[in-house]
Amino acid sequence: VSGQKKLFVKTYGCQMNVYDSARIRDVLAPFGYAAADTPADADLVVLNTCHIREKAAEKVFSDLGRLRPFHQAKEAAGGRMLVAVAGCVAQAEGEALRARAPIVDIVLGPQVTHRLPEMVARALRSHGEGVFDTEFPAEPKFDHLPPPVAEGASAFLAIQEGCDRFCTYCVVPYTRGAEYARPAVQVLAEARRLVETGAREITLLGQNVNAWAGEAPMGGVWSFGRLLRELAGIPGLSRLRYITSHPRSVTPELVAAHREVATLVPFLHLPIQAGSDRILAAMNRGHTVADYVRTVAALKAARPEMQLSSDFIVGFPGETEAEFAETLAVIREVGFIQSFSFKYSPRPGTPAAALPGQVAEEEKADRLARVQAELATIQTAFNQACVGRTMPVLFDRPGRHSGQMIGRTPYMQSVHARLPQAAFGEVRAVRIAAVGPNSLRGEAADVEPRDAAE
Ligand code: 5AD
Ligand code: SF4
Repeated sequence: VSGQKKLFVKTYGCQMNVYDSARIRDVLAPFGYAAADTPADADLVVLNTCHIREKAAEKVFSDLGRLRPFHQAKEAAGGRMLVAVAGCVAQAEGEALRARAPIVDIVLGPQVTHRLPEMVARALRSHGEGVFDTEFPAEPKFDHLPPPVAEGASAFLAIQEGCDRFCTYCVVPYTRGAEYARPAVQVLAEARRLVETGAREITLLGQNVNAWAGEAPMGGVWSFGRLLRELAGIPGLSRLRYITSHPRSVTPELVAAHREVATLVPFLHLPIQAGSDRILAAMNRGHTVADYVRTVAALKAARPEMQLSSDFIVGFPGETEAEFAETLAVIREVGFIQSFSFKYSPRPGTPAAALPGQVAEEEKADRLARVQAELATIQTAFNQACVGRTMPVLFDRPGRHSGQMIGRTPYMQSVHARLPQAAFGEVRAVRIAAVGPNSLRGEAADVEPRDAAE
């Protein structure tokens, strides 16, 4: 340990990367690296990258270009700036990354975060040869990472990583590898620690999170539903979420957990991707539209206030206008209150990239606009319908005006309200007064905040 060093971490992509970036800061902290807000003058820059769509991957290379002047300035001043590329672009590109971006010193895949300090030490000793590690080690990184602490009222907890489903458009099974489920003891210990250090809400993370089936504390295996029940018993935890789920892994036991576990929010991100059975089959999703709609009905029967969000891909190879119209139809049928939607992006090495019938860019853009308009209509209607309701809001950010705080409802809507400082980091009952362009406005309601009875 030699003095204070500046660490700048930039995160691209999903919440799993947000979690991993926090672990990157954790593993480097004992070596004197303290987080900085800007890359200028940093001793170590880590880009924690995303490979899911072409745009996300390309952004990394343009950011590396923008880093060059800082890198040069630091060297001109007699210092040294190490540049590390982590995450899924690192995994996908490996050593080849340096051919396009020679300023990169370190390339580390998502499964070797715990080895970063040693890689940094090697890079500092080297003369710019580059240090690479994109292994999928037999021993999981989770066994070697320092125990996380909450950085606010809402915390992420990775319980599962990787994906065995191989949807034909998706790079995740290649960049994150095979499914791995952390043992229940590890998950419970991390969750307790997060709550002890201030978390009121935990979002369980995994690329295929509801496929979690892990080692039970006393031997044997726990299902995901069982894990949720045990987590919900942690005193002080008000809310439990999980993301991202696959419809095929919504078991009757998981549906029952949504009926019985009040801590589980009545909101589930359950991607359907498309509304045509032919496209779903070509995507290798393993379910039909009717299967999906039945699953939603079961969830709503278990928890009447349940609402859904989804991901959509438009312009999958071969998607006709009529098939696309089925996506619009399922959006209306299910009434997704929020969603993410994307133009299909061919990813190198995935089966769909080689399919005939690639859809023209303008057509994809047009379909995306139509999907987004449909989604926006439903989202606005849902927000309007919340006016007058009293909702539990977890306040975790200061607002722009003094005395104002920002929080989230169980449905992830942002709410601005004036509340006493004591409400910060807690769930409070709020009466929704108005809908703004990007958030709701609320006022304190004189009732017990009850996420569960919501
Ligand atoms: N092109 C467009 N969108 C994609 N997604 C995954 N792969 C691709 C791709 N090749 C979307 C899916 C997934 C979300 C995380 O990203 O909708 O659910
Ligand atoms: Fe990718 Fe999700 Fe399909 Fe797995 S289930 S291959 S992560 S889209």
